[in-house]
Amino acid sequence: MTTKIWFLTGNHGKVAEAQHHLRPLGYEVIQLMPDGVTITEPQADTLREVALSKIEQAKHHLPSEDDLLLVEDAGLFVDALDDFPGVYSSFVLRTLQCSGILRLLNHLISEDPVQSAKVRSARFEAVAALWDGSEVIFGQGVCPGSIAYQVTEGEGFGFDPIFIPSDLDEFGEPLEPGNYGVLSTHGATFGAVGQEIKEAFSHRTRALDDLIRQLKANQGQ
Ligand code: IMP
Repeated sequence: MTTKIWFLTGNHGKVAEAQHHLRPLGYEVIQLMPDGVTITEPQADTLREVALSKIEQAKHHLPSEDDLLLVEDAGLFVDALDDFPGVYSSFVLRTLQCSGILRLLNHLISEDPVQSAKVRSARFEAVAALWDGSEVIFGQGVCPGSIAYQVTEGEGFGFDPIFIPSDLDEFGEPLEPGNYGVLSTHGATFGAVGQEIKEAFSHRTRALDDLIRQLKANQGQ
């Protein structure tokens, strides 16, 4: 029997990623947007606090007590901007947009290629939180990479058009930016590669993997 996981999010891109990833593991992921209920996103210092607050608000609105509730929060952390936009990523995307991040980095531009790479270094982080009816389990995922020089057209959402993931080694682990791995987007942004390729690198995939690993350990599998 497949277990239903209700994913509280308004983002169809995230639902598609989670469905694609969790279906083979025997979970049916369905988007949850409870009728007449407003879930507020608190302004907190960490992704974990934001995710926990959403779980607390939404857990009473699950269609069945046997179902699970999934919440996932992510952000883009740019090293040279002291991890900005981080937990403010949604707001920054709505206001400055991807091009605004490029403009901010252009002010910090360096002629030195090593310094220039440092200026553009960034990471996506994700926290996935799952309410299993009795407790909240957290999974974490990071995708290191760098910020492109231009916004690319294509698939994806959010900051995908400006984020280039670091290459992966033979174990699927990310390498330090600038190193060549066995899996690479060859300098293409998440926005320029298909969903399947993005998933191999994605912070969300890693956070979900971490979550499922703990869920299975709890169930003694
Ligand atoms: P949220 O906390 O998941 O809502 O994400 C915060 C902001 O980061 C939103 O504006 C998202 O569009 C953006 N974001 C989250 N994950 C990704 C991703 O995988 N690619 C691009 N942008 C993302």
